[in-house]
Amino acid sequence: MTPPHPAWLPVPAFRPVGSRRVRVTGTGLLVTTVRDEVAAAVAAHGGALVDDGPADLELVLVGDGGSGEFDASGGFGGSEEFTVARAGTTSVRAGGGAGLLYGFHHVVRLGEAAFAADFAPRRHAPRQPIRMLDHWDNTEVHPFMGQVERGYAGNSIFYADGRVREDLDRVAEYARLLGSIGVNRVGLNNVNVHRAEARLLTDLLPDVVRLADVFRPHGVRVHLSVGFSSPVTLGGLPTADPLDPAVREWWDRATAAVYAAIPDFGGYVVKADSEGRPGPFAYGRDHADGANLLARALAPFGGTVFWRAFVYDHRQDWRDRATDRARAAHDHFAPLDGAFDPNVVLQVKYGPMDFQAREPVSPVIAALPRTRLAVEFQVTQEYTGQQKHVCHLVPQWSEILRFPLDGRTVGDLVDGVVAVSNVGLDRFWTGHPLAQANLFGFGRLAWDDRLAPDAVLDEWIGLTFEDPAARGPLRELMDDSWPTYERYTAPLGVGFMVTPGHHYGPSVDGYEYSPWGTYHFADRDGVGVDRTRATGTGFTGQYPAPWRDVYESPETCPDELLLFFHHVPYGHVLHSGKTVVQHVYDTHFEGVEEVVRMARVWAGLEGRVPDGVFGRVAELLAEQLRCATEWRDQVNTYFFRKSGVPDAHGRTIH
Ligand code: GCU
Repeated sequence: MTPPHPAWLPVPAFRPVGSRRVRVTGTGLLVTTVRDEVAAAVAAHGGALVDDGPADLELVLVGDGGSGEFDASGGFGGSEEFTVARAGTTSVRAGGGAGLLYGFHHVVRLGEAAFAADFAPRRHAPRQPIRMLDHWDNTEVHPFMGQVERGYAGNSIFYADGRVREDLDRVAEYARLLGSIGVNRVGLNNVNVHRAEARLLTDLLPDVVRLADVFRPHGVRVHLSVGFSSPVTLGGLPTADPLDPAVREWWDRATAAVYAAIPDFGGYVVKADSEGRPGPFAYGRDHADGANLLARALAPFGGTVFWRAFVYDHRQDWRDRATDRARAAHDHFAPLDGAFDPNVVLQVKYGPMDFQAREPVSPVIAALPRTRLAVEFQVTQEYTGQQKHVCHLVPQWSEILRFPLDGRTVGDLVDGVVAVSNVGLDRFWTGHPLAQANLFGFGRLAWDDRLAPDAVLDEWIGLTFEDPAARGPLRELMDDSWPTYERYTAPLGVGFMVTPGHHYGPSVDGYEYSPWGTYHFADRDGVGVDRTRATGTGFTGQYPAPWRDVYESPETCPDELLLFFHHVPYGHVLHSGKTVVQHVYDTHFEGVEEVVRMARVWAGLEGRVPDGVFGRVAELLAEQLRCATEWRDQVNTYFFRKSGVPDAHGRTIH
């Protein structure tokens, strides 16, 4: 297999460390990983790994360091904190192997700055204990979805021919990338657990052991998605009722077998009663009954159940204006606050719908103060250009994590950040080489949501691209690419308008009469979904103050969410001073012009970035321009035909 692209860990990124004298003190699995990293860096750049004598960099495991063992608090490889200082020598001190690994990569990211002026000790600790990537990978290739559901980077790096690959070198590279950005958990299989993948829990468990062995030296714990009906489908029981003692016993036994094979197994991920997956509703039980069943099987071993809040009716009648998909997660879960066991983490999508380019923050995040929560993002770009479009999503995640709810930010309210991964067998890992920045940025923000998105982007660019002259243009091209994507797709927070099924490219009415609850309600007079308490679905009432009132009135609702919350006439004047329909026209023309500019900036980078990267991105920018133009023309034409209002600037609308 050709070696994959080094992503943000190319050999030159290690020059500042690798050209110096470095001492590593301590023992344990993750300390060995650090020592191996240093050995490779000094071999490449002429420095030395020293045992005694003067050193430019000291990496010190303090105390017994947990010796690379996981601990019950969820830390893995011991404590994750580290302290870095410089007083003549640069030093990293950590109480655990994971902290030492994270401290090492911190120094790599600092580069020469780590060895310049002295600085006082600075303590670094993750804001979120849970920093997790979920893989929607199947062991087999699915006829419609391919092998990776919503995957845009080729087949699974984990599986081939129905089981875990023989050659796990690529997985080891991936684990190394994740360890370098502090991701400490992965879910190994699709949340839609099909028949073949269910066997990962039973006869394919030895394969899972091999994956766990590859992730462990990088401080990453593995998890399995499991089907709620496994006691029936795998165990042959007549029921999967969570209150049935035989069902409980089945889960206890299955879970004990997993821990006998993988003592540091992280736990289960569960999608239940959602989009056709089985769940506790079939037995008249609620989701606390369901989650606690698995939590109790996992608890003796320190495991966690990640229970997804993405529960809604996907067989809706579009004629029924009272049912609102946006309400569903809160309606189902808010009443259960306090009923979940302590090792349940409720995994909540960031918005009330489904990973759209723009949604309000999910009100569920403020509604369960006595429940552990994780917010879920999509690094894989299902609705944001499918890794054919440049769409740097770190600013979106940053905005969400900093959003204030009930006097605290989302980042304060949650215990974890989870995202769907975007990698596959593609030689650049992510299909679009620039989509690597989303994977990197996810890890960095999960570690510290107070980091500025542009600083994170600069870190990624600085590590990945050697030529300093490439950095400014790359930043210019990527920085605003999320708002650009938003401009040429569905307007003002209304969402969807994508082609049904694969979700790529425009189809304004594609989901308008479907059962999925994803409507925009455009007619000759106006567009948008009335989710007010006064005249609509009442969704605004799920928010705490001030948002319940801010969103209730079109006067105070932010422009970018207007059509998520309100059905307004085309002539409604936004805070920007433009009418809704003129805003639609302007943003769609501007969005395409911005893509033209992006392509021009990229063209100027020829010879400054590796040829393979240059060619791939150039091709994809041409596709992005084609697709953005299609979006512009379909959306503008649609609203011109509905409204009859011409463009104030007389541009061509077909
Ligand atoms: C989206 C996506 C599905 C996925 C689902 C989920 O609806 O299109 O492929 O299964 O999210 O998050 O469970």
